[in-house]
Amino acid sequence: MSESTQAQRPAGVNHLVLNVADIEISHRFWTELMGFELVSTVQLGSEMRFYRSGPGHHHDIAIMQCTQPPSEPAPQRWRPSGRRMGVNHIAIGYPDRESFLAQLSHLQANAVTFHLRGNHGMTHSAYINDPDGNGIEVLYELPVEVWDGDVRAALGHFEPLPTEGPEALEDRTDYPIFPARDVVTA
Ligand SMILES: [Fe+2]
Repeated sequence: MSESTQAQRPAGVNHLVLNVADIEISHRFWTELMGFELVSTVQLGSEMRFYRSGPGHHHDIAIMQCTQPPSEPAPQRWRPSGRRMGVNHIAIGYPDRESFLAQLSHLQANAVTFHLRGNHGMTHSAYINDPDGNGIEVLYELPVEVWDGDVRAALGHFEPLPTEGPEALEDRTDYPIFPARDVVTA
């Protein structure tokens, strides 16, 4: 490691590009099911399409038609396991609780399976698959005051919820608070 240079603090994750088995099926997933808008299409050997959540972003997600047939069928069910190499899951945040709940209703109404549904200490989440079996987390962020006192404890918290029926669309707002660990409470 060089001693005359140092890594700079990143602004965050900027965008994600996925190679997909069928670009039309993945297009419908990212637009009609997930709510992104198509920004541009380019030909780079194979077709690539760029999507954004809205103005102010150039692209959040891009997909590219994969030219090789998949070596194995897409998994039918996603779990946060370490069994496969590569991306475990991609988290898509919705702006607030109301849009998150409307998004869950939209997914359920379109027969998208929730493989896992639950409350983390810092997000409330549902886990689905994209058409190629990649894990997709649909979430909204809880208020920063809820979790930034002890991010590690918030990250380690998970309350599983029902994945089917109207119960899968319910959302509690009595968020557990994760205070700083050096705060002594009476
Ligand atoms: Fe996640």
